Amino acid sequence: MVALEKKQLEYEYHDPKNDAAAAIKNVVGMGNKYLEIIDLVKKYDDFVALKGISLTINSGEFICFLGPSGCGKTTFLRAIAGLDHQTSGKLIQSGVDVSELQPNKRDFGIVFQSYALFPNLTVAKNVAYGLVNRKASKPDIQQKVSELLHTVGLPGSESKYPAALSGGQQQRVALARALATSPGLLLLDEPLSALDAQVRTHLRSEIKALQRNLEVTTIMVTHDQEEAMTMADRIVVMNHGVIEQVGTPQEIYQHPATAFVANFVGTTNLLPCTVIDANSVEVGGVKLNVSAPQVLLGKQALLAIRPEDIGARSINNSDTNSLDVLINEIEFLGSFSRVTLTHQSGLTLTAEFSMNSMRDLDITSGKSMKVTLPIKHIRLFPEEPSSPR
Ligand SMILES: Nc1ncnc2c1ncn2[C@@H]1O[C@H](COP(=O)(O)OP(=O)(O)OP(=O)(O)O)[C@@H](O)[C@H]1O
Ligand SMILES: [Mg+2]
Repeated sequence: MVALEKKQLEYEYHDPKNDAAAAIKNVVGMGNKYLEIIDLVKKYDDFVALKGISLTINSGEFICFLGPSGCGKTTFLRAIAGLDHQTSGKLIQSGVDVSELQPNKRDFGIVFQSYALFPNLTVAKNVAYGLVNRKASKPDIQQKVSELLHTVGLPGSESKYPAALSGGQQQRVALARALATSPGLLLLDEPLSALDAQVRTHLRSEIKALQRNLEVTTIMVTHDQEEAMTMADRIVVMNHGVIEQVGTPQEIYQHPATAFVANFVGTTNLLPCTVIDANSVEVGGVKLNVSAPQVLLGKQALLAIRPEDIGARSINNSDTNSLDVLINEIEFLGSFSRVTLTHQSGLTLTAEFSMNSMRDLDITSGKSMKVTLPIKHIRLFPEEPSSPR
């Protein structure tokens, strides 16, 4: 285990002739282009894990790679670090081509999902690891370690051993170690996923605050959409080795570019439909008014509407897309309820109603009610070749 960890950390052996890292430090300014990823391909034999990914990240940004298991998030992060080199493509870090550089010649700090601390070294020695390799003086190292432990909320724990720390504390130490050499780029691979929910939420906001404070460009891998939504300046949604969409959490949620994104980020009703003309579709035997893009006319498509966008208040028969539905299951979720609704055609919808609506409209299982599907909340996507999730 120690051997493996050592290998993971080899990048921290700093080469004093590391020109790229030095050059990078000089050029960086908040908001400038910091990292350019150009047409990155990673193959494992015949399997293509990254299919020509391009992305530009600005300095000081907090980026989350979000996607289902196996979509290539870790592969992408490791290629950026040089821990697993890409098969083809380029990486430009602050104007310097680092594509072919070994990890120890690059400028980054990294935190892994499992606590890759040296169990036989104290907290202080773990944090100091990269600094020792840089031949920093003993007093400088001591001061830096003390500062970093303070920053991550573990002051005075220098002499403890990792085994004496909780999972959350170990990840704080790992974070301090990653930040010790003041890297220009912080890489986090699911750093919170092994922690229990409460610690995770707490550390989430702490890492975010720390990142803001240090203005360090950060890429975090996660498959937890809530984590990505709360922490990221921009989210990169990945699927099967490609980027599906890049945008702010709001953009990704409110304007998903693909059916996959609509379904993976948040929940959505995703219904197969036939686009009749520019203003209407047929879905499960029901005709709905929509605003359909030209390219989908006459085609099979997917209609998406978020559960919270299904309307339930003050509906008239003459309202657009009003449907009489039967209330089936009601799932109580605290401030709102998730309700399964069925139309006589067999069309099933999931809606979310606030507690106020549930009470005011007396929404109870077995009753009928009227709902609307507002045109402005309906999105149409081309049919996907594989299943959306
Ligand atoms: N060393 C390897 N050899 C062969 N295939 C690999 C290797 N590493 C990863 N893969 C494959 O590449 C794909 C992407 O893997 P990757 O670990 O990047 O996924 P991920 O998005 O990080 O998933 P998770 O959320 O489960 O960590 C997967 O299909 C995986 O099986
Ligand atoms: Mg992974």
